[in-house]
Amino acid sequence: MSSGLSAEPRDQRWPWWPLLPLYPYGRRRTLIRELIPGQLWSFEQLQGVFYVAVPIRMTVVRLRHVLMLYAPVAPTAEVLAALRDLELRHGPVRSIVLPTSSGLEHKLPVPAMARAFPKAEVWVSPQQWSFPLPLPLAWLGFPVGRTRVLFEQGLPHPEELHWHPLGPLDLGLGSFMEAACLHRASGSLLVCDGLVAIGNEPPEIFDGDPRPLLFHARERGDQPLQDSAAARLRGWRRLVLFASYLRPERLQVPGLGEVFAQAMAPGLRRADAYFGLYPFRWSEGWEAEFRSLVPDGQPVVQVAPVLERLVLPRRRKALLAWLQALAQEAELRWLVPAHYDAPVPCRAEDLAALCDGIRSRNWAPDGGSWQYLAGIDTALVKLGVVPSEPAEAG
Ligand SMILES: [Fe+2]
Repeated sequence: MSSGLSAEPRDQRWPWWPLLPLYPYGRRRTLIRELIPGQLWSFEQLQGVFYVAVPIRMTVVRLRHVLMLYAPVAPTAEVLAALRDLELRHGPVRSIVLPTSSGLEHKLPVPAMARAFPKAEVWVSPQQWSFPLPLPLAWLGFPVGRTRVLFEQGLPHPEELHWHPLGPLDLGLGSFMEAACLHRASGSLLVCDGLVAIGNEPPEIFDGDPRPLLFHARERGDQPLQDSAAARLRGWRRLVLFASYLRPERLQVPGLGEVFAQAMAPGLRRADAYFGLYPFRWSEGWEAEFRSLVPDGQPVVQVAPVLERLVLPRRRKALLAWLQALAQEAELRWLVPAHYDAPVPCRAEDLAALCDGIRSRNWAPDGGSWQYLAGIDTALVKLGVVPSEPAEAG
């Protein structure tokens, strides 16, 4: 496998990507795939928060004569050209849906996407909030005259889509809310962050820029970024552990002295190596941690650990009610989340089995890889930032 690190044309480079909390819009690449022939398309972009770059997905749904955008991504020229092409073939974009009240990564692209489709209605999940200031949606750039609140002001295309709310759940700082929908014609269940299915291999979108994988594939900060299939795989699995647990059990953070000493190594004065700063050391057994998320090398439909431990630790009951409602959908065939693999085979009985598993196991545990997340939750409860007990015990 060739390096690929210096082969990009100048205008495709992302010199600042590691330094920004979110990638600059105009420079993102998008992987566009047809998920269900003639019915569903995936638009994936890499989105980075400091050291962790994870793919984020918009799903385009073909309805009768119109298109719906679920969880928009940044409307780059590449994205808009592909959407115009779909419009020519299947009808205009008429609905843009923000299916989460809290997921900033899904909220930020909505106003720009709405401006690109001035005739589309914008639907947002209830109880939107912003931090640190509670800004009204109009101030965030949402079009006032054509923005409607899901469930409170109706639902888009209810004859073709079955909508299922999870929440709103009081998180103290704001609310968690997710709006899933079943596209009946294709049997596809669209979710935002509520469910995921993690792939064993790096997603295809990293083929265009493997640097986030190669960065994490290293053992020390003074090692250069070197490309190989094994390095990409190692990097992917570590990225998954970061995104899932924030600080997995088998990850140590070396002292500042060691970090800066290693950063002095030659060849690391470059942005894509974070200027040599690599404050991580993985210890033996980290692969087993990944294996607990992807047990048989196949994507398993599950609740992401960060959601379980930080958002829903005392809301198991609400989650189960949502999953049970989804498990009533006899037409369900596929799961299409906004992160990780899609489409993933998923039937009603799979969700019923997931419910059984959640009921019978220790929910939101404190030990092992969960320790760091548990520590954050405990601190937030102690500070009174999040409520210790919901109105309904989960
Ligand atoms: Fe998300």
